[in-house]
Amino acid sequence: APPVDDLRALIAPFLQLEGPMLPILHALQAKYGCIPTGADAEIATALNITKAEVHGVVSFYHDFRDTPAGRHTLKICRAEACKAVGGDALATATLAKLGLDWRGTTANGAVTVEPVYCLGLCACGPAVIVDNKVVGRVTPARMDAILQQVGA
Ligand code: FES
Repeated sequence: APPVDDLRALIAPFLQLEGPMLPILHALQAKYGCIPTGADAEIATALNITKAEVHGVVSFYHDFRDTPAGRHTLKICRAEACKAVGGDALATATLAKLGLDWRGTTANGAVTVEPVYCLGLCACGPAVIVDNKVVGRVTPARMDAILQQVGA
């Protein structure tokens, strides 16, 4: 967890804004790669709200993370067309293989796995996007190759 003084210094300039919460969260994530431990308490105190309220906002916006993302991001499509051709099974098997839940990061920091809802590749599902590269018709073997490639 970063020093409390650092957190306070980062939060302070936003307090004069009309709606400071999201700008504060974005600034924290830009600096630390996530919403670091202890930040919720400092935000709650500064905005005179409860930690639960801060937590509610953080978990509502999926862009905010409580641990830094991995070096690579693997997003697996969970929308209908991909589901219909085995997207769910692919996702379940991949998460199980890595021992992760959605949005989790492998212990070696190599990859974070996230859900995504349609990559515009519906005719070629199951689709995934690895960093910025979209890959279609992802078979288990192709997924293994992807995982190997990102060092998972
Ligand atoms: Fe998966 Fe469109 S539903 S790419």
